[in-house]
Amino acid sequence: MSTSPSKIELIQPDDWHLHIRDGDVMKDVLADTARQFARAIIMPNLKPPVTTVDLAKAYRARIQLNLKAMGISSFTPLMTLYLTDNTSADEVRKAKSEGITAFKLYPAGATTNSDAGVSDIKHCYGALEAMQAVGMPLLVHGEVTTADIDIFDREAVFIDRVLIPLRKDFPELKIVFEHITTKQAAHYVRDAQDSVNHPNTIAATITPQHLLMNRNAIFAGGIRPHNYCLPVLKREEHRLALLEVATSGNPRFFLGTDSAPHAKGAKETSCGCAGCYSAFNALGLYAEAFESVGKLDRLEGFASFFGPDFYSLPRNSKKITLVKQSQAIPVELPLGDATIVPLRAGETIAWSLA
Ligand code: DOR
Ligand code: ZN
Repeated sequence: MSTSPSKIELIQPDDWHLHIRDGDVMKDVLADTARQFARAIIMPNLKPPVTTVDLAKAYRARIQLNLKAMGISSFTPLMTLYLTDNTSADEVRKAKSEGITAFKLYPAGATTNSDAGVSDIKHCYGALEAMQAVGMPLLVHGEVTTADIDIFDREAVFIDRVLIPLRKDFPELKIVFEHITTKQAAHYVRDAQDSVNHPNTIAATITPQHLLMNRNAIFAGGIRPHNYCLPVLKREEHRLALLEVATSGNPRFFLGTDSAPHAKGAKETSCGCAGCYSAFNALGLYAEAFESVGKLDRLEGFASFFGPDFYSLPRNSKKITLVKQSQAIPVELPLGDATIVPLRAGETIAWSLA
């Protein structure tokens, strides 16, 4: 007899790591997210990247126009700025006073639209000093990018070469280690010490694909471009470590889908883009992961409480219901003039939004 419930009610979740792009594709992806989440941290890796407060405000206005056009009033985008070698301390202070939620560190060359990213973190020490002083969180794409490091080791090496020294130099800076993929990252975040007077200096987001799949999924019966994202899926032992911390009730781990839309043609090509489109039924995917280890009761903390608590934002008050009712995931969805292949396209998912 199954002891799993067939229905769960939870405070509405937020997505603490999301790509919605710009232009005519934005509406399609925003609609999927706004159906499930109350707020989302909007990633700044546009072309060109969102490097200034003025660019972020203009981006936010375009998001709000799209929300309005779709009649959605229940969703709030939380804006981020793209950190560069040249970000000034003044821009950080301006960002704080103008309601920007965080800065994003992309090591140059790490992923989609990261060419303008940081070439050496030492170039950012003035900006980081200001972030620490005003309480502005730094969101980190945690991978080294040097060619000598194997792609499967990039995250673990980043911890030793960049993250540990960074936390030593800025012990009060709030850092989110984004989309963690390894046992090393899970255990680093779990075991890291907070600075004495400043709790909540380190946290991590975890995507649905890294909780549900290991690297075999990229090569199952042939190459599977829609399961390719960065940081790339890892071995099963890493997936299990992520599932363990995500479902442990530890408030340092919370939901961030990293849903990253690329048109079908940009994925199914000789040099396909990195990114999984999980926004279509992200909550169903997370519910499946938590249920797989009998921890559905821990989903609400991970999805709805620990994120706002870390960011010192109020928790949502509205409730949503997930039902155990199998939902077919379409093989393709519209994306502007093109289409997109969602995660688990053509398969079914056990849980969906009531
Ligand atoms: O797979 C990814 N896609 N990882 C990232 O870090 C960026 C994202 C994107 O923007 O497409
Ligand atoms: Zn991302």
